[in-house]
Amino acid sequence: MNKDILWVERYRPSTVDELILPESIKNTFKEIVSQDKIPNLILSGSPGTGKTSAAIVLCKELDCDYIIINGSDEGRLIETLRNKLTQYCSSVSMSGGRKVVIIDEADYMTPDSVQPAMRGFIEKFSSNCSFIFTCNFKNRIIEPIHSRCAVIDYSSVDPKKMANEFLQRCFFILTENKIQYEEKVVVELILKHFPDFRRVLNELQRYSVSGKIDSGILLNISDTNMNELIDSLKSKNFKSVRAWVVNNLDNDPQKVYRKIYDKLYEKCDPSTIPATILVIAEYQYKSAFVADQEINLMACLVEIMSNAKFK
Ligand SMILES: Nc1ncnc2c1ncn2[C@@H]1O[C@H](COP(=O)(O)OP(=O)(O)O)[C@@H](O)[C@H]1O
Ligand SMILES: [Mg+2]
Repeated sequence: MNKDILWVERYRPSTVDELILPESIKNTFKEIVSQDKIPNLILSGSPGTGKTSAAIVLCKELDCDYIIINGSDEGRLIETLRNKLTQYCSSVSMSGGRKVVIIDEADYMTPDSVQPAMRGFIEKFSSNCSFIFTCNFKNRIIEPIHSRCAVIDYSSVDPKKMANEFLQRCFFILTENKIQYEEKVVVELILKHFPDFRRVLNELQRYSVSGKIDSGILLNISDTNMNELIDSLKSKNFKSVRAWVVNNLDNDPQKVYRKIYDKLYEKCDPSTIPATILVIAEYQYKSAFVADQEINLMACLVEIMSNAKFK
């Protein structure tokens, strides 16, 4: 097996049974499979809980042709969306059945232009296409789309049962990859990030490079993690800087600023180090009393991204 593949991809569930979900949601999915027809759906819930996986699993179990369009990316451009959908939906499915359009992260599609157009597409192609929308916040999806979809809300979690199932899954993955682990640490890690399973798998894979999962994984923002941030800053990749911030915000903010400061000496061009230290100092000071740590840290990184030079 290719070692470079991300665990989140390699271990993406491939059947409804493999999805770790509350019984009620699982039953809804099983019902859809047994009726052999995917209705228009909105899957709503927090990141890393298996919404995209569920959309794909349904298509696979029913053997449907499907495309995935990312709402936060190409789904924001109405012309691209129109062309892509028209091309895909107008042709007949290879397998003869209904086709499925998965609009991933649909809540990023602009509600005043793209979403209303989506409503038109749903109508126009209703004879041979179903639509599955995934989103983190269902209230960001406009009413006319809501009323054409069944909403499956992932927020009704069953922490004890799901955390335990996911724990077994992690043990299985670690064993298959011949990584030693302390059971207690894996439990703690899952509780720390619950219900974000993507985050847990990513942390485990990153840390497993050290050969063994021990309590160190619970402590720090790792070095690989910092290198990722610096790479994103260097390439001025706003989107991945933002993802990094979201993923690392549950660490003590003071420590995050300290880590960035420490990393500077290694990664920054010496000419821009003094100015960058002033930026970090300012935002670290502010972090003691701001209302929203995410915005404060992001503002700090945007400033670094625009002004610092990296080696
Ligand atoms: N409910 C789940 N059951 C099993 N694995 C899951 C579940 N949710 C997430 N995962 C793991 O995390 C990865 C990312 O899940 P994904 O479906 O992309 O989440 P979302 O779309 O809700 O952000 C999956 O490939 C899988 O490995
Ligand atoms: Mg997703």
